[in-house]
Amino acid sequence: MAKDKTIRLHRKRDPYPVLMGRGLLADSGRRLAELWGTRKRIAVVTQRRIDRLHGDQLRLSLEKAGLNATFISMREGEHHKNLDTVRNLYEKLSRHRFGREDGIVAFGGGVVGDTAGFVAATYQRGVELIQIPTTLVAQIDSALGAKVGVNLPSGKNLVGAFYRPAAVLIDPNILATLPTREFRSGLYELLKYGFIYSKEIFRKMESSPGTFRPLDLSLDRAIALSARVKLHVVRQDERESGLRRILNFGHTIGHGLETASGYRWLTHGQAVGWGMIAASRLAHRRGLIREHTRQRMEAAISGLGRLPKLGCLNRQKVIEAIRRDKKTGPQGLRFILPVGVGKVEVVEGLPSDEIAWVVKSLGVGRR
Ligand code: GLY
Repeated sequence: MAKDKTIRLHRKRDPYPVLMGRGLLADSGRRLAELWGTRKRIAVVTQRRIDRLHGDQLRLSLEKAGLNATFISMREGEHHKNLDTVRNLYEKLSRHRFGREDGIVAFGGGVVGDTAGFVAATYQRGVELIQIPTTLVAQIDSALGAKVGVNLPSGKNLVGAFYRPAAVLIDPNILATLPTREFRSGLYELLKYGFIYSKEIFRKMESSPGTFRPLDLSLDRAIALSARVKLHVVRQDERESGLRRILNFGHTIGHGLETASGYRWLTHGQAVGWGMIAASRLAHRRGLIREHTRQRMEAAISGLGRLPKLGCLNRQKVIEAIRRDKKTGPQGLRFILPVGVGKVEVVEGLPSDEIAWVVKSLGVGRR
């Protein structure tokens, strides 16, 4: 993508625009004013680190467009994506006298997008929301598709809503300041699109894992492709009654690991990385893929870097957290398993011993 060129990732009839462009952040005020006019007051929900790095650019852009904005910070980390933070944000909005006619901008990664999105869906029965995602995970996945929500100690994303944003503005330049661990976390989600849909992404990441770097045009193209895949899936099944389930590839086990870790030392992407390894092993055990394919899949995941070891997690806790996952069907827990590169299948009702086997194979509980 050429500098300063903004492209449209949505289709004409889609419910909200999804725009992507290098330098779009500096132009976001004008875009917001086009969508919302200048009479709305705007609460920008963000985190200190993002505010320090990119807040002034957003402030200036909003000011230039004649918009009145209040910046509200929430704490960093998946363990703060919870109802305490939601309550805290409600209080701050109320203290600043935000009303239903005002708007919320979620300016951050998945934690900010999901939490501020849930606040937008519920504060005064709903105020309009715009997502400006600042991490790779958020730009290719969590800010798209209208899912918002928070975790409970007993399970990931157990409280939430489907709440469409008024727009999503993606500026890949922001990724240049992303800590390496966060960026790599996004690469696992990018590889997920390779597993479920795009042989092209899979092969690129398999042959040269370092191929995608912030500010590289190849990364811009991969973001645009993944976002389009996500929008294509969500267009057909926003409420996850069928096709959208494929986006949960690696997430059933991944969410179990995150929950059992107390949402602390494992990033979402790393948990999904382990979850994808587990899915490949289960698929192989069930005869859905050959040994050679399983090895290729695991090698593609390992190629992104060393995943944190899981020995300190309690195996029983992980299994219980997996069991409580909300991805269940009439026959029990729902797993998305690979049947080849770029293709997955939904499998329901895996026996307990298979789940226990795969969790053990990941090294969970092996100190
Ligand atoms: N990240 C899974 C979904 O949006 O459905």
